[in-house]
Amino acid sequence: MDKIKIAILGMGNVASTLVKGIEFYKNSIEGLWHPKIGGFSLYDITISAVYDIDPSKVGTKIGQIIDHRTDFSELNILPGISEDVTPVRVAKNGQIKSVSYNEFVNSLKKTKPEFLVNLISSGMEKSSEKYAKAALEAGCSFFNATSAKTATGQALKEFQSKELMILGDDLMSQFGGTAFHRGMIEFMTNRGIKVQKAYQLDVGGNQDTMNTMAEETREKKRQIKTESIAIEAPYSFRSTAGTTEYAEQLGDSRVSYYWMEAKGFLNSTIEMDLSLKTNDSTNGCNVIVDSIRAAKNALSKKDLTKADVISAYAFKNPPKKMHIRECIKAFEDAFLN
Ligand SMILES: NC(=O)c1ccc[n+]([C@@H]2O[C@H](COP(=O)([O-])OP(=O)(O)OC[C@H]3O[C@@H](n4cnc5c(N)ncnc54)[C@H](O)[C@@H]3O)[C@@H](O)[C@H]2O)c1
Repeated sequence: MDKIKIAILGMGNVASTLVKGIEFYKNSIEGLWHPKIGGFSLYDITISAVYDIDPSKVGTKIGQIIDHRTDFSELNILPGISEDVTPVRVAKNGQIKSVSYNEFVNSLKKTKPEFLVNLISSGMEKSSEKYAKAALEAGCSFFNATSAKTATGQALKEFQSKELMILGDDLMSQFGGTAFHRGMIEFMTNRGIKVQKAYQLDVGGNQDTMNTMAEETREKKRQIKTESIAIEAPYSFRSTAGTTEYAEQLGDSRVSYYWMEAKGFLNSTIEMDLSLKTNDSTNGCNVIVDSIRAAKNALSKKDLTKADVISAYAFKNPPKKMHIRECIKAFEDAFLN
C-alpha cells in the first residue's frame, strides 16, 4: 500500500507530538482511537517536509526540536510564508525566516506531499489562507487545524474541481473542551432536560493559548466554540465558551471549567459545575491521523463527498455541521471497514 505523504506547516507543540506519535505507533496501538482507518495504520503516514518561520527553528533539523529519535529526525525545517503580524514568542527569536508565495509553491511541487497540514499559530489568518491557495496550486489537499476560515464555499469548489480536499476549520480535539461540552448537552437533551444557560471557560499554559489571548483571536475562537456547542440542542439557550486565561504553569495542559443550568419536571433545577483537565497537543493527534487516513481512502476512490463527514468529525467549524454522535457514526461507518 502507498504511503500517505504529508507536509506540516508550523513545527510547534502539535506537530512535535504528531511526529512522536507516528514513530511510537510503529510498534503499538495503545492510546489510538482507531488503529486502522480506510485500511491504513499510522505507519502508512510519512512526512515529506516541514515548514516554519521561527528563526530558531528554520534551518535546523526535526531531531534538534524533538528529543526522541524518529524516522524524520534528519528532515530540515524549511521556511514558510508569512502574511501576518508575527506572534510575540516567535518575534523574540529575531527576524523571521520566510519565502515568497511562489518560492513556497515551488518547494511544495518539489516535496510533493498529498496533504498540507496546517498547524501554524492562532491568529495567522492571512498566512493560512495563502497556504490553502498554495496547496491548491501545487496539487495537494489541505487540512486546517487553525481557526482561520479556509474551508469555505469557493475554496471547497476549487479543491473539488482538482479532485482534492480542503478539510477544516479549527480542529476539535478528541476529548477536549468543545467535544465534551457538546456530548453533555446532547445527553441532557436526549434525557428530556431543558438546558437554560451554560458556560465553558478554558485556561491553558502553552504557546497557542498565549497567542489566543490577542483580543481578535480570542473573540473569533469564542464565537466558533459557542456556535459549535449550540448545534447539540434543538432550541437556543444562553451559552458562552472560550479561552479565558493563559497560565504558564499549566504547560501543555488545559483546564476547562463548565457550568450548566437546566430545568426538569415541575421546573426543578439541575445544576452542573465541573472541570476537565487534558493535554492539548496529544488531545488533537488522534483526530488528525484519523482524518488524514480517511481522506486518503476517500480520495483514492475519488469519493470527494466524504469531505463533509471528515470535516464534521474533525473540526469545530466545518462546512456542514453534524451532531457529535452522528458525525462519529458517519465517520466510522465510512472508514472503519
Ligand atoms: N488540541 C490542540 O492542540 C488544538 C486544538 C484545536 C486547534 N489547534 C490549533 O493547531 C495549531 C497548532 O497548535 P500548537 O499548539 O502546535 O501551536 P504552537 O504555537 O505550539 O506552534 C505553532 C508553530 O507555528 C509556527 N508558525 C507561526 N506562523 C507560521 C507561518 N506563517 N508559517 C509556518 N509556521 C508558522 C510557529 O513558529 C510555531 O512553531 C494552532 O493554530 C491551534 O489553535 C490545536
